[in-house]
Amino acid sequence: MSETASITIDGKVHSYPVVTGTEGEKGIDIRKLRSDSGYITYDDGYANTGSCMSGITFIDGEKGILRYRGYAIEELAESSDFIEVAYLLIYGELPNREELALFRNLILGNLAIHQSMFHSFAGFPASSHPMAILSAMLNSLGCYYPHMSTNNREQDLEHLDIAATILISKVRALAAMTYRMKLGRPFIYPKGQLLYCSNLLHMMFSEPYSDYSPSSRVDRALNLILLLHADHEQNCSTSTVRMVASGGANLFASVSAGVCALWGPAHGGANMAVIEMLEAIHKENDDGTRFVEGAKSGDRSKRLMGFGHRVYKNYDPRAKILKEESKKLFASMRIKDPVLAIALKLEEIAAQDEYFSERKLYPNVDFYSGIIMRAIGIPVDFFTVLFAIGRMPGWIANWKEIAMGKSPIHRPRQIYTGSVLRKFVPLEERG
Ligand code: CMC
Repeated sequence: MSETASITIDGKVHSYPVVTGTEGEKGIDIRKLRSDSGYITYDDGYANTGSCMSGITFIDGEKGILRYRGYAIEELAESSDFIEVAYLLIYGELPNREELALFRNLILGNLAIHQSMFHSFAGFPASSHPMAILSAMLNSLGCYYPHMSTNNREQDLEHLDIAATILISKVRALAAMTYRMKLGRPFIYPKGQLLYCSNLLHMMFSEPYSDYSPSSRVDRALNLILLLHADHEQNCSTSTVRMVASGGANLFASVSAGVCALWGPAHGGANMAVIEMLEAIHKENDDGTRFVEGAKSGDRSKRLMGFGHRVYKNYDPRAKILKEESKKLFASMRIKDPVLAIALKLEEIAAQDEYFSERKLYPNVDFYSGIIMRAIGIPVDFFTVLFAIGRMPGWIANWKEIAMGKSPIHRPRQIYTGSVLRKFVPLEERG
């Protein structure tokens, strides 16, 4: 007999089926609870709510496990690259040689930005935050492909293969153009022979009179950052993409909303906060020791940024991979940066401190991605943009799952805590 769970309300027992995932995770399917009993569940922040069934990414936060489509993140980081992983996430299987070559070609072939879009950049003040520009530009991009952004699911799905490669490719061009615009420098055209990440760095850092050519170590480090950020199941931005998609919105509009959701400091913005914290520690002539003491006070504003995770109560597997990569990168670049030295010191102090071990607070992915991006020369306000480039395949895969599935429009309920019915008071009678 299939497993059920019972809830007793006012003495009446209601039974609901237990759903079990392929990794043995269990959930209670309470979809009929409200019609059966008039009750809803209350779960502020959805921390204990399964919002969907998804076949894309598996996380076991207690054990520090992350898998994309069943493949361990460690193995993908070791043997694959961002583009192959993007294919895996979107199509569910690793590509064969021909499929991968076609996918890479489509990504390369879709790199150019329509000339008319160049003018859109002029409409933003140089002080604009790059995430605001990126979100606006991704939404505008859909206007150049009206047959792919119809808000008619069948039609949008018919063009998904091309739309996905357009977004994966152009998101980095738009990011690089934003960077150049903010500096008042001319846009740099991509090069056909460069790899995905090298082309991004070229479009950001080359000048019309001099080429910036990143080393293969730098290309590799950036590739790893993107690959490790490519999906992370129902996080804030991915849930946003799914929410927007559930209303029938097209892929361009949905990922544009994802960028806005990613922007916040509690989500994608944490990598910026890490560097800001390290710089502040440096300014105070602290080697990290005093800061760590303050971080243990329980004051939220003094937290050690880049430590702890809502889901991982064990070492974040992505942080483990980036920690090793950061060592190789820093050695190859012969970097002498006091801020990086503080980062390594903080990690050392926290690793030996009971406060952190008792609370299972380990460095998370943002701690290392922040210091690696700083070493590469990415400006701090572009860290979250790089996160968005990395997360694009995950957003696309999740949009596709919604568009191909039968899930209804996402519409949570609430427990209303406002005023009960009251009479309108005319203006002249108000105190
Ligand atoms: N520094 C110092 N103390 C901390 C920290 C920290 N970074 N994080 C949690 N704590 C303490 C907290 O004060 C509490 O202590 P006590 O039990 O004495 O009250 C305990 O640990 C549990 O804290 P919590 O807020 O209930 O833990 P949480 O799992 O809800 O929070 C977190 C997770 C990521 C919001 C939090 O660890 C944090 O604020 N970290 C710093 C910001 C950060 O790095 N965010 C990026 C996370 S990864 C993003 C991604 O994957 O997209």
